[in-house]
Amino acid sequence: MPFSPEPGTATPRTQREWWRDAVIYQIYVRSFADSDGDGEGDLPGIRSRLPELAALGVDAVWLTPFYVSPLADGGYDVADYRDVDPRFGTLADFDALTAAAHDLGLRVIIDVVPNHTSSAHRWFREAAAAEPGDPVRSRYIFRPGRGAAGEEPPNNWNSIFGGPAWTRLKRPDGTPEEWYLHLFDAEQPDLNWTSAEVHAEFDDVLRFWLDRGVDGFRIDVAHGMVKDAALPDIAEGQKADLLDGTTRLPYFDQEGVHEIYRRWRTIADSYPGQRALVAEAWVEDAERVARYLRPDELHQAFNFEYLQAGWDPRRVREVVDRSLASNGAVGAPTTWVLSNHDVTRHVTRFGGGATGLRRSLAATLLTLALPGSAYLYQGEELGLPEVTDLPEDALQDPTWERSGRTERGRDGCRVPLPWEGAEPPFGFGPAGTVPWLPVPAEWAGLTRAAQRADPGSPLALYTAALRARREAAVGAGDAVEWLDTGPEVLAFRRGAGFACAVNMSGAAAVVPLTGEVLVASGPVEQRADGVVLPADTAVWLRG
Ligand code: GLC
Repeated sequence: MPFSPEPGTATPRTQREWWRDAVIYQIYVRSFADSDGDGEGDLPGIRSRLPELAALGVDAVWLTPFYVSPLADGGYDVADYRDVDPRFGTLADFDALTAAAHDLGLRVIIDVVPNHTSSAHRWFREAAAAEPGDPVRSRYIFRPGRGAAGEEPPNNWNSIFGGPAWTRLKRPDGTPEEWYLHLFDAEQPDLNWTSAEVHAEFDDVLRFWLDRGVDGFRIDVAHGMVKDAALPDIAEGQKADLLDGTTRLPYFDQEGVHEIYRRWRTIADSYPGQRALVAEAWVEDAERVARYLRPDELHQAFNFEYLQAGWDPRRVREVVDRSLASNGAVGAPTTWVLSNHDVTRHVTRFGGGATGLRRSLAATLLTLALPGSAYLYQGEELGLPEVTDLPEDALQDPTWERSGRTERGRDGCRVPLPWEGAEPPFGFGPAGTVPWLPVPAEWAGLTRAAQRADPGSPLALYTAALRARREAAVGAGDAVEWLDTGPEVLAFRRGAGFACAVNMSGAAAVVPLTGEVLVASGPVEQRADGVVLPADTAVWLRG
């Protein structure tokens, strides 16, 4: 049922704020569970599987876009922000899903995509049909081309998916005219955030979903909406890579975005029940990230530095310290994330095979032992690896075509989840379902049903760790007290009663910690002088 907000009744910040230490499970809607057998996941499919997520022990789910969309970029190309795409269900399905989640004690966060719309959005269709200079074009970023006949793009920016960031419109008779900006696919025209109409539209979109009871938003490309007004060329060789937050670019992390978030914060705060805003902001470093988290801006931001730290103890420790310090300075919690729908799954990043899996489980214990909030990406609790050998004709990520078929893109982490049974697609949909990406036959041993029956499975470890995390309130507070264990073993206490150690050294190590073993990612041995950790293994201790 839609929720009736009472403006002005926001919960004071002094009460416990759920998002400060929540574990949030990312559902890539298209690949989670398919209720109707069309090969794509959908909202009723999610609803039917929610009890599994409650049993796993997460606090919230984040749903990737399910709005009306041509799916040129998996739904991050929205044609109608206030409706569900028929292939994913209906608004009534959304309401039923939200209600079911709330009944299970799970909060619901949804994606909002404000940097660009789909080219199928009514606004863009109107803009394309209008004359240059028409006010309906000012919702987007149209410019005349350079060169004698306007045949060159207005500047040298590139799309994050490859190729130029500008596409030239053509009249129906083929006459070329203005160019429009798209930092992503040509079917994702960038909105013009100097337009009051754009601001008003998104205020309203946020309210539409807040009224329906969502607990928060994940803001897509949160660092991208405002562009340097001069649209200056970038330096030769500068790369428009989403994952490269290390270079200052005239279309990312501009001062003006903060004003938008101050406004959005007032909207979120005008609703009861602690609605939260989380930024997807690939910016330079922890200090730049923390600027999005000042008390009157957003609640959380993804910690991509942590995601990118690799299996490198020095770097991990540095990132942990720096992110806690930067976020702590603005009173914001830190988040921890290892995987999402845009990056290679961490089992594979950490080396793949048995080693990759061992490390990834150890990394999970580290992640869940840190203070703050953590994000899990669907399937990581099953230890799923990246699928690196999808057939070329199955690839759908726009990166594949836009890179001239040189970069395969992100489909390998988006393969539908294996639920049960012995044959692909392992209960992803009803019998006979052909999933939108093929599911590897080797995943038979990785289904949730198989893992539920195996106390040594990744699923069992995640479930035990989440339970222990909740019982010991591990996410609360902000102090990490490192122990002196040499550079290759990370060990820390969190207050008096809880400690975590991760051996990244490549050989067994003795860590001077004693107490009750709460969870371990591999076989550990307790001795008088401490706990013996095999290589690539982590442990949690109480006492
Ligand atoms: C974000 C999304 C990604 C999408 C891009 C463009 O980075 O996570 O999947 O392609 O924005 O919307």
